[in-house]
Amino acid sequence: MTPTKRVRAGLALTGAGAIAACLAMVMASAASAGTTLGGAAAEKGRYFGAAIAAGKLGDNTYVTILNREFNSVTPENEMKWASTEPTQGTFTFGNADRIVNHAAGRGMMVRGHTLLWHAQQPGWAEGMSGTALRNAAMNHVTRVATYYRGKIHTWDVVNEAFADGGGGGRRDSNLQRTGNDWIEVAFRTARAADPGARLCYNDYNTDGVNAKSTGIYNMVRDFKSRGVPIDCVGFQSHLTNSVPGDYQANLQRFADLGVDVQITELDIAGANQAAVYGTVTRACLAVARCTGITVWGIRDSDSWRTGQNPLLFDGSGNKKAAYTATLDALNGGGTTVTTPPTSGPPTTPPTTPPTTPPTTPPTTPPTGGPGGCTATVTLNQWNGGFVATVRVTAGSSAINGWRVTTTLPSGATVSNAWSANRSASSGTVQWTNVDYNGRVAAGQSTEFGFQSSGTGAGLAPTCTAS
Ligand code: XIL
Repeated sequence: MTPTKRVRAGLALTGAGAIAACLAMVMASAASAGTTLGGAAAEKGRYFGAAIAAGKLGDNTYVTILNREFNSVTPENEMKWASTEPTQGTFTFGNADRIVNHAAGRGMMVRGHTLLWHAQQPGWAEGMSGTALRNAAMNHVTRVATYYRGKIHTWDVVNEAFADGGGGGRRDSNLQRTGNDWIEVAFRTARAADPGARLCYNDYNTDGVNAKSTGIYNMVRDFKSRGVPIDCVGFQSHLTNSVPGDYQANLQRFADLGVDVQITELDIAGANQAAVYGTVTRACLAVARCTGITVWGIRDSDSWRTGQNPLLFDGSGNKKAAYTATLDALNGGGTTVTTPPTSGPPTTPPTTPPTTPPTTPPTTPPTGGPGGCTATVTLNQWNGGFVATVRVTAGSSAINGWRVTTTLPSGATVSNAWSANRSASSGTVQWTNVDYNGRVAAGQSTEFGFQSSGTGAGLAPTCTAS
């Protein structure tokens, strides 16, 4: 089957997935397939992208290379928290929109970067903590992912949440101090806001099997076993001189958990640059679920690694040896993507069965009926406490607001909640929407959550539309 037919077949099987549709479009129009990075990658069912800056879209040399070579773009800074919500509750999408519009006009896909990160937060968020920060962060995820719903093939939902060094644990940050479940809450919140985007965890210094990548691996395995909606892991791959010998094996072990892998911020400084670009590219092609590569900038002069010349084009826009090595690797074989990227939750089950059973399966069947709303709950229970994630789904008509009722068993007291208002902290609790998540389209969902002491068994939420 030709690659175009293969992607189209995937499309027919899996529904109109945004990424597959875009790739099919890119491939159908790729008259230059094999002679550009994007064209050659598309021949292998993958994308080849670049991080770009809105401020450079007036630079002719830059835009000529961008339009010729790449079929995916990542805003280098324009979708970060400080850029999109400089004042709490006031969202500014002008620069990000410039990039999205440039891409849309040319059949390029957009990789969203990043919904939550400890760095490049607005000052107002840096100064927050606890429930206020948790609520603000999830509001941010909801608002940004909703604004761009349908336009983003993959979101970096959470960036760089693991610590460097030997422990394999989380990085300390204001977000981490809101509770260890902040990452899974962010993924559930992002899924509810944009069910069509692939949801990625993204990090650096994860280029081989090491303590940090293993910490992330364990988190992804846990998420998959408990149904937390994660679709992919991004490997930033900011490299110098070499790439670990187990780079491909490391990508593969993540893929074997049932997630896609993507190389998200590739740049390579130092010696052996061309050879290392070739090795990294071949590694992605050799892993069936490695769905694309993004380089972190276009010309050396565009790189954040000032003076290190880690990219594929020199400051004048000429192709470097690293470019040729990358293009040759893309044209040189490897496997084709066996599971075309699709929209929505992954269609393929994990290849390795989850090792730990879900701590608690969803406890309640949907209640209510068409026209109203239903509520289901997923529990993460431990000895003495739990986090409940409640999913509110509109029936056959859109709703403008909702009220969910839960009955907490005696001994259970809510300590922390996000994305809903509550009437009480124990006993029968009414949860009502906050301003940004009351309106839910027919058949669509939103989520809120809370943390409580005691046990969450038998919560049985019911939903009323308002
Ligand atoms: C960098 C940008 O390239 C710079 O322009 C900015 O000043 C700082 O951030 N990891 C990431 C990216 O996830 O967002 C960072 O981008 C580079 C490291």
